Amino acid sequence: MSAKASGIESAYRTKFGESARLFERGRSVFPNGVTHDARYLQPFPVYVQDASRSRKTTVEGHSLIDYWVGHGALILGHGHPDVVAAVQRQMVRGTHFSACHELEIEWGERVQRLVPSAERVRFTSSGTEATLMALRIARLVTGRTKVVKFIGHFHGWHDLLVPAAYAPYTIDDWSMPGVTPGVLSDLVAVPPNDLQAVEQAFREQQPACCILEPTGGHWGLVPVQGEFLRGLRDLCSKYGVILIFDEVISGFRVAAGGAQAHYDVKPDMTTLAKILAGGLPGGAVCGRADLLDAIAFGNRHGKKMKHPGTFNGNPLSAAAGCAALDALADGVAGGLAIEAARQLRQRLNELFAQKSTPWVAYGEFSMIHILPNYNGPRPTDDEFIPHGGKYELLDVEQSAALKHAFRTALITNGVDWFGWSGMTSAVHSDNDINETVNAFGRTIDQLVGDGLV
Ligand SMILES: Cc1ncc(COP(=O)(O)O)c(C=O)c1O
Repeated sequence: MSAKASGIESAYRTKFGESARLFERGRSVFPNGVTHDARYLQPFPVYVQDASRSRKTTVEGHSLIDYWVGHGALILGHGHPDVVAAVQRQMVRGTHFSACHELEIEWGERVQRLVPSAERVRFTSSGTEATLMALRIARLVTGRTKVVKFIGHFHGWHDLLVPAAYAPYTIDDWSMPGVTPGVLSDLVAVPPNDLQAVEQAFREQQPACCILEPTGGHWGLVPVQGEFLRGLRDLCSKYGVILIFDEVISGFRVAAGGAQAHYDVKPDMTTLAKILAGGLPGGAVCGRADLLDAIAFGNRHGKKMKHPGTFNGNPLSAAAGCAALDALADGVAGGLAIEAARQLRQRLNELFAQKSTPWVAYGEFSMIHILPNYNGPRPTDDEFIPHGGKYELLDVEQSAALKHAFRTALITNGVDWFGWSGMTSAVHSDNDINETVNAFGRTIDQLVGDGLV
């Protein structure tokens, strides 16, 4: 980092002194002091003590406008009153019955009502577990082993799908230390938005399934279009490949029924998490009844996939999930989040143009991506996708010094942004957007002053 960039850093250090002290404690407990890779930040991350609606408050008492929104789980904002009341009611009734309970049925029925592909549902504890399960079901049912995924698409951190999620996208034990060559050899990664490459992989590899983020890798950093989804659906049907939409982020966000409802393309299986459980831990696989039958005793496949899991369908997550899905079912809350993101993209692009900053904001639905080091044409509408959507230009590792200075400066200016991307909730207000644009303006001035932009 340049000597000048330490101006940004010293303002950050001064404002968040108590966080620095907590980080010192955390470092002797956790590797790097953190419990999630994305929360790692030099010289230390901020520590948050509480949150409400679109904002969280640091241990120093500073308010931050939050664009992580629970890693995408909190589309209703922090502390939605219906979710809080449902969890409080359930807490005193019991948090784990080690038994079936009515609330799990109600939760599953809501998923069936909203998600077009959900003939049957099985709850897990996370999105990672859901994608793991979907792959194993596909292998059991088809008797095939290979999996086709897309370069830059993220499906959780388990061995079977973490390869090729990040640049440089190679599938080898150098880029994925700890994953065995046997596991890597069962995975085929193809470029996004390339139906020819998909067909070739299907023909040559005869995979069990094909999985993708239906709005594009890293929630639309490299957008996928509806036309591609329809083509992929046709190819999967033609080659007997099970199509899995990973709607862990897009589910209940893009539309109440997820990307599959929005684009009217029905996958064979869908993985869900985040919004599904209203801000508590929880995931699910849902899809065709004959496929989910793989988990059933005495099933039509003559062999059963084992699926225990201590917290599957637990009453607290079920209570929060039911309340959240009820609040989202008519599409109004999701629409507010989408509109907030649209306005913010537009206002940020106006700011970048006004300041001649070589950055561009883009994205779809309630998701926003910022691409620094961009000198291409300026967006003329909200459909704009930089670099014609080329993943090699959009999904690239940015300078660590710039990324670090941008994040720390923006936090110091009152906004917590998820790396270069952000998500809005239904409760991000006009005032939040105005304050966010002002914070970006101050941040850019500081970065320019420090010679980083
Ligand atoms: C598309 C997608 N799939 C799967 C996962 C993994 O979910 P979890 O973090 O609940 O394990 C994520 C997490 O961000 C995700 O974005």
